[in-house]
Amino acid sequence: MSDIEIRTLADTEWRESLALFRAALHVTPPTDEQWAVGSRSYEPGRTLGAFCGDTLAGTAFAWSSDLLVPGGAVVPMAAVTRVGVRSDFRRRGVLRELMRRQLADVADRGEVLAALRPTEPVIYGRFGYGQATRGAKTVAAPRNAVLRPEVSSGGRVRLVTPAEALAVMPGIYERAGRSRPGTMARPSYWWTVAYERAFAADEHIIVAVHSGPTGDDGYLMYRPTPGALPGTNATLAVDDFVAAAPDAVYGLWRFLLGVDLVDEVTVWTRPTDEPIAEALTDPRAITSAEHRSDLWLRLVDVPKALAAREYGPATVVLEVEDPLLPSNSGIYRLTPDGATRTTATPDLSLGVDVLAMLYLGTWRAGALTTIGRIRELTPGAAAKADTLFAVPQAAWCGTFF
Ligand SMILES: CC(C)(COP(=O)(O)OP(=O)(O)OC[C@H]1O[C@@H](n2cnc3c(N)ncnc32)[C@H](O)[C@@H]1OP(=O)(O)O)[C@@H](O)C(=O)NCCC(=O)NCCS
Repeated sequence: MSDIEIRTLADTEWRESLALFRAALHVTPPTDEQWAVGSRSYEPGRTLGAFCGDTLAGTAFAWSSDLLVPGGAVVPMAAVTRVGVRSDFRRRGVLRELMRRQLADVADRGEVLAALRPTEPVIYGRFGYGQATRGAKTVAAPRNAVLRPEVSSGGRVRLVTPAEALAVMPGIYERAGRSRPGTMARPSYWWTVAYERAFAADEHIIVAVHSGPTGDDGYLMYRPTPGALPGTNATLAVDDFVAAAPDAVYGLWRFLLGVDLVDEVTVWTRPTDEPIAEALTDPRAITSAEHRSDLWLRLVDVPKALAAREYGPATVVLEVEDPLLPSNSGIYRLTPDGATRTTATPDLSLGVDVLAMLYLGTWRAGALTTIGRIRELTPGAAAKADTLFAVPQAAWCGTFF
């Protein structure tokens, strides 16, 4: 709509933007104490405001980050968050204008990808985002959870103070948190909002660090909720579980499932192919492992994104449609040697949002063809695309933003 003006907000306007975002989620504006920490979580130049006349009607923000893609390359990425529109300005196209402008800014910065975690999945496909990773929300009954004797006993686990946690976690994340495709850089601003804010507010959170022969190689953060009545034990909610090597992964699981006086442990997200139930003598001690939406990706620069990842032994020609960023639309030949534009006849036709679902190997082209998300123009091409996009380890992000 022509009466919506989008511009980058000055630092003096960030607090109003945060209040707007919080109001969209039905939360009160930040207090002075909250803002003292919150203000440090804003990366300059990345907060957009949508104005209708003099009124700030909507906002959108992003951090500069990057994403590990299949084959190990790391690609610049905007981590989009704090998107909100005032409830008295909704459904007038404010979000649409914010998304258009933000994607243009992301492209201007040379960021190849944008990512977000939608509150409502119905919204973002129209802007080219697709669900690119899945995570397993895992619930365990620790009383019945005994690790099998073959499973690594792990190293030493120690509880750390907030100050030590803040000092060691970013380094552990960089060393041990980024082996899988789908894992992203956590900017310093992220640590401010995820941890400094929580510690400053005296939230009850525990950080346990795992050390192996080469030093600290994993950690987990959980929030305990004490039992309500005598005889009812606590529950633990793990919000951040960072480890890659089996010793660290199962050393941390062993620690977590061994904490006394706990009836239930919920781990917000773990990779979907982590065999934690099979690591237990009684797999039913994992009472639920629900696969849920993790990271949504937008390929902002399709040629660069396609060129960045590694491919399996197959050749497929894709026709990609991107109405919002039309320079991405076109035909691409993908082979184990890379991705190039071509004028060849396409084998498969798909939208840029569906390409995001294939990009990290999470979804199979064959399956998406059966529901009409991909058009198979050459018989057998979807099966070839499955070989092309296949990954040895399930992609997973594991960072909430
Ligand atoms: C979700 C939200 C940002 C939408 O803003 P908006 O300005 O009303 O959206 P727009 O008017 O620009 O709508 C753009 C399109 O999305 C659709 N849409 C927007 N919100 C939708 C919703 N909640 N459910 C279904 N469709 C929705 C609109 O119908 C419109 O569709 P069209 O392309 O067919 O015309 C806003 O309602 C909000 O702030 N919600 C609470 C906070 C939130 O969920 N933030 C997202 C955090 S990632």
